[in-house]
Amino acid sequence: MELRKSLGLAVDLKTSEDGNSFIIEQRPPAGFRYTELDVVKLSSTGDGIGIDRLEDGTIEIVVVPYSIPGDRVKAKVYKTLEHYSLADFEEVISGGPARDDSLVKCRYFTQCAGCQLQMLPYEQQLRHKREVIVRAYSNFCRVSDGIIPEVGDTIGSPLEYGYRTKLTPHFDVPRKGHVPADTPIGFTKKGRSYVIDIEECPIATLAINDVYKKERIRVRDNISSYKRGATLLFRESMEMDETTNDTQKSVCIDSKDTVTEYVNSYRFKYPAGDFFQCNSSVLPRVTEYVNSQLQLPLSNDEYKSMPAPKYLVDAYCGSGLFSITCSQSVEEVIGVEISHKSVSCATSNAQENKIANAEFVLGDAAVIFKKIRTPPNETSMILDPPRKGCDSNFLNQLLDYLPRRIVYVSCNVHTQARDLGYILNDPRGSNYYVNSVRGFDFFPQTHHVESVAVLTLRD
Ligand SMILES: C[S@@+](CC[C@H](N)C(=O)[O-])C[C@H]1O[C@@H](n2cnc3c(N)ncnc32)[C@H](O)[C@@H]1O
Repeated sequence: MELRKSLGLAVDLKTSEDGNSFIIEQRPPAGFRYTELDVVKLSSTGDGIGIDRLEDGTIEIVVVPYSIPGDRVKAKVYKTLEHYSLADFEEVISGGPARDDSLVKCRYFTQCAGCQLQMLPYEQQLRHKREVIVRAYSNFCRVSDGIIPEVGDTIGSPLEYGYRTKLTPHFDVPRKGHVPADTPIGFTKKGRSYVIDIEECPIATLAINDVYKKERIRVRDNISSYKRGATLLFRESMEMDETTNDTQKSVCIDSKDTVTEYVNSYRFKYPAGDFFQCNSSVLPRVTEYVNSQLQLPLSNDEYKSMPAPKYLVDAYCGSGLFSITCSQSVEEVIGVEISHKSVSCATSNAQENKIANAEFVLGDAAVIFKKIRTPPNETSMILDPPRKGCDSNFLNQLLDYLPRRIVYVSCNVHTQARDLGYILNDPRGSNYYVNSVRGFDFFPQTHHVESVAVLTLRD
């Protein structure tokens, strides 16, 4: 829309009745159209956005995956929506200054919907992800200028490939009739809803790729026995000999198997099918950062030094990743989690790591407010909700409670920005000061970015 405005094109966006979403109308299909165009922006979903100047003088905005600003590309437009069209990438006519195709490590680049940024040097991927956060806050947070501080540099992942400790390739089978022996097993084709055959994934760990290759053969050999499509699961597990520190990797393929993973000196166990972060190389950086933010003094005033809050509530705690790694900095931790299996893992992970000051509660994050006995003024809260963010029931109770510090970790910066806007625009939350917002790259080569925002309640 910004681009349309800058070109003087209409931006009459219709919103749904509740005002929460845009209605994007599709024009009648007009068949394919080949075109050549200049890419000028990179969207938050990692797709290039180009300006297509048609022969009749009209201008169309076209989204072309696998392209970046500065590229001139050939594209095949396949769908026209009200304000922009969608195209398949065909080829690069001339690459922009940032493009370096020698960096691409996957042979399915331009086909698989997974990793669109491989041609962009890693430093620039990190800069792009920072820009995504800046734009998310400017579009969705809706607070006055100066309230959100300058977004920090994105912290990179130590591993740029071979980092994914979880892979879920899938396959479809026809509803009726014969299941072909060469049924594609892999990932979704970019811009379409069918699976393409992919036998390895360079962002997954070597151990996973090894087992995946073998499993593909086993599934193929038995493909006629499948009545429905399926998703395969591969989860890397690591055992460490605690006297020699020797490690041994294995791969779980059953969702009920137990995975073991180390984050610094902490050991976590969880069922292979349950939630746990998928890039173990970046977890020490993230957990240390979150821990350091919880410890920021409340005031550095030379007359009135106020230490950080001494209690921690970890809402959406999963198997206890932050509760356990941050437990030494506080007197008491309470974790809350809606999944029964995750809460029992969090409890046993705390026991195994000899953490005596953490307890875990099963339930909706919003129930925690009825159970918290700690004074809000001395309590920090970690929020790490799923992609949809926190609901208004949770946020309203948070605004009644007013924890002294909030560390909001999010895999969807757009809902994070919306939720921060909700907190900061409410009269109850207007005393919060935003210390920082910065990204962490859990998924190099992809458009995803994790964002961590820190808020402290002023005196
Ligand atoms: C993004 S994960 C974060 C987990 C953990 N912080 C970690 O990094 O491993 C979100 C977690 O929130 C849990 N969850 C989802 N909705 C919830 C709710 N309404 N109340 C409490 N937990 C919820 C999910 O089961 C999941 O474990």
